[in-house]
Amino acid sequence: MAELLEEQRESWGTRGGFILAAIGSAVGLGNLWGFPYKLYSYGGGAFLIPYIIALFLVGIPIMILEFSIGHYTQRAAPDAFKRGHKRFEMVGWWGIVLAFVIITYYPVILAYCFSFLWYSIVGIFTGGELPWAGEGIEGVENAKHFFNETYLGKTDGPSLGSIRWNIVWPLIITWAAMYFCIFKGVKLVGKIVWLTVPLPWLMLLILTIRGLTLEGSMQGLAYYLDPVWSELAKPITWRYAFGQVFFSLSLAYGVMITYASFLHKKSDINNNASIISIADFATSFVAGLAVFATLGGMAYVTQLGDNPVAVEQVAETGPSLAFVAFPYALAQLPYSAWFSFIFFFALVTLGVDSAFSMTESILASIVDKTGWRRCIVLPVMTVVGFLFGLIYITQGGFNWLGTIDGFVNGTWGIAFMGLLECVVLGWLWRIKTLRRHANSHSDWKLGPWWDYSIRMVIPVVLGALFFWQLFDDIFGDGFLRTPEGEWILPNCVGLSIVALVPVVAVVLSLIRGRKDIVEQEHPEQNLPIGGRREGAIAFITASIIAVLLILWLTVPISETIKQVILWLLLLGGIFAMLLSNHVLDKHHTSTSQASWLARWAGIIATMDISASIAIILLGLVKAEEAEVTTAPIRDTLSGVSYIILAVVFLIIIGGLGWCFYRALAAGKDSGIQHPDEIGD
Ligand code: ALA
Repeated sequence: MAELLEEQRESWGTRGGFILAAIGSAVGLGNLWGFPYKLYSYGGGAFLIPYIIALFLVGIPIMILEFSIGHYTQRAAPDAFKRGHKRFEMVGWWGIVLAFVIITYYPVILAYCFSFLWYSIVGIFTGGELPWAGEGIEGVENAKHFFNETYLGKTDGPSLGSIRWNIVWPLIITWAAMYFCIFKGVKLVGKIVWLTVPLPWLMLLILTIRGLTLEGSMQGLAYYLDPVWSELAKPITWRYAFGQVFFSLSLAYGVMITYASFLHKKSDINNNASIISIADFATSFVAGLAVFATLGGMAYVTQLGDNPVAVEQVAETGPSLAFVAFPYALAQLPYSAWFSFIFFFALVTLGVDSAFSMTESILASIVDKTGWRRCIVLPVMTVVGFLFGLIYITQGGFNWLGTIDGFVNGTWGIAFMGLLECVVLGWLWRIKTLRRHANSHSDWKLGPWWDYSIRMVIPVVLGALFFWQLFDDIFGDGFLRTPEGEWILPNCVGLSIVALVPVVAVVLSLIRGRKDIVEQEHPEQNLPIGGRREGAIAFITASIIAVLLILWLTVPISETIKQVILWLLLLGGIFAMLLSNHVLDKHHTSTSQASWLARWAGIIATMDISASIAIILLGLVKAEEAEVTTAPIRDTLSGVSYIILAVVFLIIIGGLGWCFYRALAAGKDSGIQHPDEIGD
């Protein structure tokens, strides 16, 4: 397929360059800014259960999927999908438009980091005093006041207010840094990441060792790791865990497809994807240890004085954890300006390669489609991205940033896109071709389980989460309107943005691309079609179930009958899905193709199953609500927390150890050449 392309595509210099660039994209603000506060807010150690499930069940298989399609087609997301069928191009654009929405606000957070880095440098040179420093609980208020009032000039409510000029400069610096990192193409990126990936790891290591050696650090870790099991019964916990995995691994917004499209033809796929995903998780987890151990140290120090401050009094600042709680904690400890410098330097270096990876994926998509030159598209994108960023550096901008991030970076946004990617590639493409392609290049091979996981397991899981969220919002109180009937503007705008994304994606896919991108000729189009009869049965069954589910939700009948019908519909959905899957397995061969009815039946059936599961979950959670949530006693680390710690390290060390072992073994035995052995 890639042979159809006449031009020579640029490629990463080495395997290491690619792995580091992909880790650089994955490991970003989401790890140090997002993961610790989400884990703390949604169940502590208990949050790790949905997170690890999401990582292994969904994250790694989708990362392999994105690497496979990018590498197979050697194209950025829209063109990569277009190779399957011209109508699929919009799926690729959907991810790219999401990346564009993210890239309007992500550099704004990076701009905050640049500002705080500057304050830390000034602190170092002016005797160690940080501008937000203060004692006791007044100190916490100082830190909040400094970030919210002095720095952001924040106003409440939806109005934007005026632009904060003090953030304009850091935003310009951020966009300039991103521009200079990618303007020369991916080969330069492959070199820059040798600096931007190890440096923040070094900084994190320093912060972690320092945090863990502080008196009181265990108390802080108890807040991080002691599980609150009842949080697992809330859809929001699962939604955040899955959303965080997608965001953190840079999945479903085109980045990994684009990066893999620059991979050398003989590069590994499966093992690289696993190494990158586990390394990303390790970074998030260690970042949380560093943050909470330091908060514990702060609590211990303040308890010695007249103004004790407990960890929960600062940790509850949510997204402001990195700009309020942590800076405050550092200010209580010796060498505060130096450690503040290390923390914000880590954030800047973590975030910049993630930010430019998104820019690169948008850029590569436009260049692939239009054939315009990078040196023209990139400056235009930089200016446009900067101008959109101005919205978020207004007085009300931070509130909007949180709202839009919540929509894009979750079930409605990237997780839905992940679902779409799986159903399109799993049911409408020949997923087996992608598996064969991935296996022919990799240190270890995927079994047919991967096809089933992309086709059935992941869509059912993501679909159930989507419907769970949808029903929770629709049937819950006050999602779009207050009980008094007033519109809730932030939710209306957030929902409109995620609804607008596919519309823009369709429009972009309808624009004619450059002439030399020839459409893939489908040899399969001429193959005889098999499984028409079973396909029709599956299609009719799945469609009837879909209609019955809508009736189930709207027509009032007795509860007992409803429960029986629901389980029957679930079983019917499973039957239709398995039948469709059977048709695809049997008729997607080199001499025949599966009927389109069976393919569409598979998609409808997976959605039927997801919706049924979501309704069941909704009922179960309502029943659970009566139970009281007891917060753990957070004085020292509990026995369960030690077990959680041990299990997580076992997963990380065991997982990475296994991947490196396979890479070494394959290097010796299989004769697979890696780019660094081949040279450029
Ligand atoms: N994956 C990037 C992050 O976690 C976007 O920040």
